[in-house]
Amino acid sequence: MLTKLSVSGFKSLDDVTVHFGPFTCIAGQNGAGKSNLFDVILFLSDLTRMPIMDAARRVRDRSEKPGGPIASIFTRTRDGMRDTMAIAAEFIVPGSVVDDFNQRAEPSVALLRYELELRFTPTDEVESERILLVKEALRYIPKSEFRGALFPTSGMFWDSVKGGTKTSPFISTSEDKDSIFVHQDGNGKSGRPERFSALGARRTVLSTISSVDRPTAFAARREMESWVLLQLEPSALRKEDEFSTPSDVKVSPTGAHMPATLRRLGADGLIASRLSELLPDVGELSVDIDERRQTKTLVMTNKDGISFPAKALSDGTLRFLALAIMHADRDAGGVICLEEPENGIHPSRVSAMTRLLRDMAVDPQEAVGDDNPLRQVIINTHSPLVVQSLRTADLVVCGSYRQDGATYTDFSFVAETWRAALMPDHHPTSLGTLVAYLSKPEEADWSQSETVRQRLETQLTLPLREIAH
Ligand SMILES: Nc1ncnc2c1ncn2[C@@H]1O[C@H](COP(=O)(O)OP(=O)(O)OP(=O)(O)O)[C@@H](O)[C@H]1O
Ligand SMILES: [Mg+2]
Repeated sequence: MLTKLSVSGFKSLDDVTVHFGPFTCIAGQNGAGKSNLFDVILFLSDLTRMPIMDAARRVRDRSEKPGGPIASIFTRTRDGMRDTMAIAAEFIVPGSVVDDFNQRAEPSVALLRYELELRFTPTDEVESERILLVKEALRYIPKSEFRGALFPTSGMFWDSVKGGTKTSPFISTSEDKDSIFVHQDGNGKSGRPERFSALGARRTVLSTISSVDRPTAFAARREMESWVLLQLEPSALRKEDEFSTPSDVKVSPTGAHMPATLRRLGADGLIASRLSELLPDVGELSVDIDERRQTKTLVMTNKDGISFPAKALSDGTLRFLALAIMHADRDAGGVICLEEPENGIHPSRVSAMTRLLRDMAVDPQEAVGDDNPLRQVIINTHSPLVVQSLRTADLVVCGSYRQDGATYTDFSFVAETWRAALMPDHHPTSLGTLVAYLSKPEEADWSQSETVRQRLETQLTLPLREIAH
């Protein structure tokens, strides 16, 4: 569970910090930098399983063969670009972790901070453009310090999160930034740290940790791997499952495997009743098994007893259904990012959608466990309707400001919510200002002309600027 992210030098994110709750909505106008925030979260996730350059190419291009210039992920300035980026993420890892060989282990602590610094090097006589690993660190954050920077929780929630103590780091970088060390994990183990040369490293050291011999660093890697962007695609949502689909399958980030997951969960009634909040006509959900074709198909039966296979259901219904299945699936954990969930949903049903998304996230008033998995949901929106359907404590305001000819992203929050206490130097906004900022209808076609666009870009800065003075 990602609780805090600080970023400098990544796209329009320069010197920003965001505190996340179990459920967070990033609200801001077009071009403010909402998706850039998702980009950096997914970049961290990709870095745990692939070389740095591949992860950089995947930013905004999650196709099989992503391309494009890697320099574009570094902050552009009027005079050129920043050549260094720094990212620091604080997160909670689950109490146990399983590796690829099905070995289970327990991390020695659950509250961690991961820091990364990368530098861009342009093409020279020796090599083409590349990104160098400059610093990498993973360390424990003491419970009291962590709680001081956290969303409000109950004692039960907090007691169910493993504390532990570990004063030395799990991963560290030498002062001269020459070497990166992986240290012993504790649990009574001692021994020399393993040394990696930072210079010329093509991937992060964390991405090389693949067994539970170092359970805490491995749990950190697994945690970041679980940070995903849901991009629900109609074709995947409608797809049947083969008999060969593994029985422990989960709904994928594209929305595939709903029939097999529903079959495993057997919670058809619960999910159908959720779906009926969106479509009052829903009677039953079931999985049709075709022995001859060896397929499983999702079927919805309406109140009149008429059955429709997934193929016949609407896109909005299927998207809602995918989320409802994930909600019921205790194994579907991690950080789920979702862009503009209001798309394709009738305005009168937007609150059913936001209610479902909020319910998907872990309840910080209850203990973490099988019935309350450590699942987190982060959405973004520019819809005033979505914003008005949420609690103000769940909102992060995303705006932009201009400095020295370049546009940067700024994050704020609504006054008198928990983030205000954590960031006393920041100026909060009010819900009224936020809704007015999102609903300037005269600016709807701002992309049409360059002059209009420039004028509006200046105006877009106003809400946060006003707040800042
Ligand atoms: N390398 C970079 N350096 C500085 N700014 C950048 C860089 N790359 C992109 N941007 C800025 O990021 C902005 C786009 O941000 P983003 O895509 O996150 O917007 P958004 O809030 O998601 O908008 P929408 O609601 O339209 O999806 C662009 O307007 C551009 O100014
Ligand atoms: Mg966007």
